[in-house]
Amino acid sequence: MATSDDKGASYDAVILGAGAAGLMCAAVAGQRGRRILLLDHADQVGKKILISGGGRCNFTNIHTLPDRYVSANPHFAKSALARYAPADFIALVERYGIAYHEKTLGQLFCDGSAKQIVAMLLDECAKGGVDVRCGQSVNQIAHSDAMFRGTFGDFRFSAPNLVIATGGPSIPKMGATGFAYDLARQFGLKIVEPRPGLVPLTLGGEDVLFRDLSGVATPVEARAGKTAFREAALFTHKGLSGPAILQVSSYWRRGDPVQIDFLPDAASGWLVEAKRARPRASVAAVLGTVLPDRLAQTLAERLALPGELGTLTDRKLAEAEARLARWIFHPNGSEGFAKAEVTLGGIATAGLSSQTMMAKSVPGLYAVGEAVDVTGWLGGYNFQWAWASGHAAGQAL
Ligand code: FDA
Repeated sequence: MATSDDKGASYDAVILGAGAAGLMCAAVAGQRGRRILLLDHADQVGKKILISGGGRCNFTNIHTLPDRYVSANPHFAKSALARYAPADFIALVERYGIAYHEKTLGQLFCDGSAKQIVAMLLDECAKGGVDVRCGQSVNQIAHSDAMFRGTFGDFRFSAPNLVIATGGPSIPKMGATGFAYDLARQFGLKIVEPRPGLVPLTLGGEDVLFRDLSGVATPVEARAGKTAFREAALFTHKGLSGPAILQVSSYWRRGDPVQIDFLPDAASGWLVEAKRARPRASVAAVLGTVLPDRLAQTLAERLALPGELGTLTDRKLAEAEARLARWIFHPNGSEGFAKAEVTLGGIATAGLSSQTMMAKSVPGLYAVGEAVDVTGWLGGYNFQWAWASGHAAGQAL
């Protein structure tokens, strides 16, 4: 329990942000006997957990590896991820009897509801005697005599340790803020430019025609720079989405092209083969046997190869095949933080210890979760980082 005097309640640590990372950090530190205050300005804890995975929370990925995270320092996440692995979180979930399943590509979801994950984390906090408070703002933190002090509504608190766990600014209508960056700057920590990640891309210019395909989805290999993902792409009324596009969006920079292979499983020379087998068929008809009809029509129009296959030279067909395997889109932007599942960038890892998540220059100040410049792929990787980094700090507090 906290101790109180005329300067307010005093704790061993105050954790700002009761999302995935803050809840885990509080539970771990509380169960180690630390007196923990966990604060959130939202009316309830873990709001992003509750809406995640379509309400079923894709809580981890069994294929978690450090190379599935984007960061200015790709080595930073290794230590925390190694010390709190997917198996550790799965063991916790199993201890609570929460049923789950693998959906695809190592992604684990609750069979029931994401509410079970939040209830489990709150129970873990209760076991550690964590003082959880919601629904007020923390506007300022003062730091003097090795103590962090602040107010939460009328409630005054102080502690020698402060954990920044307020996440990133993606989906502001859910209460997401850039508060973590303001605090970090206040204490002299650097910020890697925050940008929307796992976000739909928008199309303009010549590509705008593809917006007519809104609702059409197809398996592709999408590539931005050197990084490619084989998953579904979805055309939207604004441009491109679907898992393959969300994944490459984290590697895409404004001005870069996105390359799509519409037929990643097709054997080389398949279109010339199709000409031998069906010389009277059109390009659109042949594409329609392997792609959704509307997409086949649009691609055939853009390839501008009218008439029957039999009238086209092998060279022209080989060129068309190559174009279908490396179709270039020039996104003119993304749908921004309003639609981004995560924020790339954030508090620079160079200023933090990868073992404890503590700031090297400010003893007692920690940063965990999405607030830090570590961003995972789509598919449970971001929660695994939140659990692992929260656990690392919780062990150190
Ligand atoms: P998180 O955002 O969870 O928590 C931050 C907390 O700080 C919030 O509770 C917020 O209210 C609070 N806060 C913010 N500013 C504050 C302030 N000024 N004062 C006090 N409190 C403040 N990942 C994954 O692995 N699997 C999935 O299925 C999904 N699905 C998904 C769906 C959607 C729609 C979104 C937007 C995101 C996902 N994610 C995901 C990503 C995942 O939700 C995200 O990476 C983690 O929640 C990050 O955990 P944090 O604890 O760092 O931040």
